[in-house]
Amino acid sequence: MATTTARAGDGPILQVGATGHLGGLILGELMSRGKKVRALVRTGTDTSKLPTSVEVVRGDLLDPASLNAAAEGVSTIVTSAIGYSQRKPGDSLRTDVEGNRNLIEAASRARVPRFVLLSILACDQAREVPHFWAKKEAEDLLAQRGVPFVSLRPGAFLYAPEGPYGQMIRQGLEHGQVFAMTPEGVRITYIAPSEVARAVAMAVDEPRAIGQKIDLGSDRALSGPEYAALIAKVLGRPVSAASAAGGRGGDQDMMAMFRFFQTGKYVADTRRQAELFGPVPKVEDGARQMLTGLGLLPSK
Ligand SMILES: NC(=O)c1ccc[n+]([C@@H]2O[C@H](COP(=O)([O-])OP(=O)(O)OC[C@H]3O[C@@H](n4cnc5c(N)ncnc54)[C@H](OP(=O)(O)O)[C@@H]3O)[C@@H](O)[C@H]2O)c1
Repeated sequence: MATTTARAGDGPILQVGATGHLGGLILGELMSRGKKVRALVRTGTDTSKLPTSVEVVRGDLLDPASLNAAAEGVSTIVTSAIGYSQRKPGDSLRTDVEGNRNLIEAASRARVPRFVLLSILACDQAREVPHFWAKKEAEDLLAQRGVPFVSLRPGAFLYAPEGPYGQMIRQGLEHGQVFAMTPEGVRITYIAPSEVARAVAMAVDEPRAIGQKIDLGSDRALSGPEYAALIAKVLGRPVSAASAAGGRGGDQDMMAMFRFFQTGKYVADTRRQAELFGPVPKVEDGARQMLTGLGLLPSK
């Protein structure tokens, strides 16, 4: 057991995934609340964009020893890391399964007072989607080890990632098309990453959140055609819905996720979110943020 746990209440927040898109937004929210942040960053990852006040410790979810050292004396662990998105060569679901397990075991050994996990909406109903199920298993392990946790389960991000995926969304929209993940009548939840980041930062301090699995979403879920209509309205020009699933045959996990979306179970119950984190955001606002991020709307 860690010897510094008596000081844990004043210790920094250990953030895992701070160099990611969502992680950067979470870091901004934590800093704006005056939090001390220790970021666990992989060797070779560029940290030049992190604020200088952030304590950078080198480590890896797949290197348990590095996690023991990083978790020493921290007040909270926040993780939005993911291997599934394959940011680096060699990244895989192993990070989501084994990596999260390593982090939770380190938190348990160090008796970390709070662990905020970025989970996924309806993960416990999606046995057939490996990266969803990995989150469910992480939630289970947190409970088994008695680590005080908050699990936040957002819906699909309305975001404009850099790289080929963002480029594909932009090019589609330039040709008047959006990728619609469900047909008419089947709705899924979307949310802006900025709203997820705000909830994560609030979950660090909110006493009522402990031990809860909290759905995060917007004011309403949307079918594919409703999503296309919303994007058209916000963009101010016609947009039609194109099926997203067709071009992705190589990725079994993603295909399983698209199939799961068709069940209608990927819809957030936002009542707890509203109680703990304030008014549930409007999906229009998330769409506007995404389109601005893609450079298709002027930033204010
Ligand atoms: N996208 C969605 O629609 C959606 C929906 C619901 C939930 N989520 C959840 O949201 C979170 C953020 O997703 P994202 O796609 O935005 O992530 P992302 O930007 O790709 O960032 C992933 C982060 O994880 C870090 N990481 C990866 N492997 C690691 C390892 N072995 N050890 C330590 N750090 C590691 C990366 O570090 P490097 O900079 O070193 O690569 C990066 O900082 C994930 O937990 C995801 O499951 C996403």
